Formats: sequence, structure tokens, C-alpha cells
Amino acid sequence: MKIGPSEKLKERMSGVRHTIAVMSGKGGVGKSTVAVNLAATLAEQGHRVGLLDADIHGPNIAKMLGIEERRFTGSEEAIEPVDISPNLHVASVALVGYDRDTALIWRGPMKLSIIKQFLEDVVWGELDYLIIDTPPGTGDESMTVCQFLPDLGGVMIVSTPQEVAILDSRKSVDFARKMNVPVLGIVENMSDPENGPRLFGQGGGRRAAEELDVPFLGSLPLDASAVESGDTGTPLVTSHPDSELARSLAHLAERTAAQLEPAS
Ligand SMILES: Nc1ncnc2c1ncn2[C@@H]1O[C@H](COP(=O)(O)OP(=O)(O)OP(=O)(O)O)[C@@H](O)[C@H]1O
Ligand SMILES: [Mg+2]
Repeated sequence: MKIGPSEKLKERMSGVRHTIAVMSGKGGVGKSTVAVNLAATLAEQGHRVGLLDADIHGPNIAKMLGIEERRFTGSEEAIEPVDISPNLHVASVALVGYDRDTALIWRGPMKLSIIKQFLEDVVWGELDYLIIDTPPGTGDESMTVCQFLPDLGGVMIVSTPQEVAILDSRKSVDFARKMNVPVLGIVENMSDPENGPRLFGQGGGRRAAEELDVPFLGSLPLDASAVESGDTGTPLVTSHPDSELARSLAHLAERTAAQLEPAS
């Protein structure tokens, strides 16, 4: 089921080469962490990157990047994203300025139109990659992103090593297939680090990818500095560039870029 983009959205997205939506069936598996660090890594590798937070109920990209107090510039219908660095630009519903402590209770159609309007209003200019962080599950936000964005490059599914995550990934893969958008693959987050304690296990993401017949994009190890970086507003790949997690994220960025742009 594809509704398709409006003329305004087509125009807004005309300078964006590849769009990636980061999704998961289950909450708290690390979508926002992956989205922020993938965006930061691609930007450090020299690509022009936009990061869009499409999570209306729990927008935390702004916090993870330390820009909660910043506000958009531009006019109401032509929002300029916030620049994190010359190559990294961010737009988040959190930056529109509602009261952070107020729990938002929006009905489906209202959420849908807010996301749709947000997609149409942000002026990205020329980008190599636009990364979109979505809330867990297959709700209105993810549906809007899949239905309205022109030429979505693909959905990246974040999972954890547990068996239950395989079931959750299956839902996300089914969703992407129903929406007629490509699945870039499954990333296993919070897997046991190479030389660390055995906690969550390893391999669930790979098994899920094999079972669901989608690419396996690699594992990202459990690393406490991910939590610290998320809380202090600096992406882990910037604050801990030599960590196993940062290296795995660099690998993920390269793999993703190669998949979307096989010739480069
Ligand atoms: N590889 C990792 N190692 C350790 N902690 C991690 C890792 N990845 C994410 N985390 C932590 O797990 C928590 C949840 O991560 P995050 O907010 O990115 O998940 P999410 O999938 O976006 O959640 P939600 O479904 O609520 O949007 C955060 O505290 C984050 O710092
Ligand atoms: Mg999140």
C-alpha cells in the first residue's frame, strides 16, 4: 500500500540521494543509538548526512546530540535543520518546542499529519544520506515514513541477540514487505563483546536474518559508553572512536553505503 509523496515533499527530497529508516519491532533495542551513531559515522566519513527524529512520543535524538535547547530557524513552512557539524544536520519534532515533560497523547490521524507535515517542511538541501529514527513497532509514524517518502532506500531493522527479538524482527520485515519498501537488513545490537562477559548472547540477529532471508548487517557489542554518550550528548563514535562499538559502527556505515551505492 503506497500513497506516495506530495509535490512539496518530492521537491524537498529532490536533493537527497539515499533515505534509510531505522526500525524495530521492540522498544529499547537501540534504534536511536544506531541512528545517531550511523549518521555521525557517515558524516565523519565525508558524506553529507541528515538525521530526522520521527518519534513523536519519545524524541530523544536531540538529547543524544546535546541540542535540546536549540530551536529551528527558518519559517514555519520551511524549517532549517540544526547543524551539528558541517556534514551533519538534524531535525527533530522535539526541537519544535513543545514541553518536554508533557506526555503527548495524539490520536493516530493527528500523528500522521504531524509527521507528514514535518517531512514536507524540513529543508534538507543536498544530502548523501537521510537517516530516519522511528518509534518501536509498526505504528503511524513508521507507516507515514514508508508511505509518503519518495524512493525510500530501505529499512534497517535493529534487533538484540535474544530469541524473542527474532519474532519482533519478523514483524518489521513483514511490515516493510507489505509497504513495498526494501529491507536493507538486520543489525544485531547489544551482543556480547568479544572479550567481555556473557550477558545477552550473540547470533540471534544473524539467525533472524537467515530465517527471514534478508541481509545480516553485523553485530554491535554491548558497551556502557553507549549509555554515557547518549546521556552526555556526544555520539559514541566521537567520544570513544577506538572502542569495539565505534569500529563496528564504522563497519555498519561502510556496509550500508556499499549496499545503497554498489558502484562507489
Ligand atoms: N550497544 C549498546 N551497548 C550498551 N547500551 C546500549 C547500546 N545500544 C543502546 N544502548 C542503550 O540502551 C538504551 C536504549 O537505547 P535507544 O534509546 O537507542 O533504543 P531505542 O530502540 O531507540 O528505544 P525506543 O524504542 O524507546 O525508541 C539507551 O540507554 C542506550 O544508551
Ligand atoms: Mg528511540
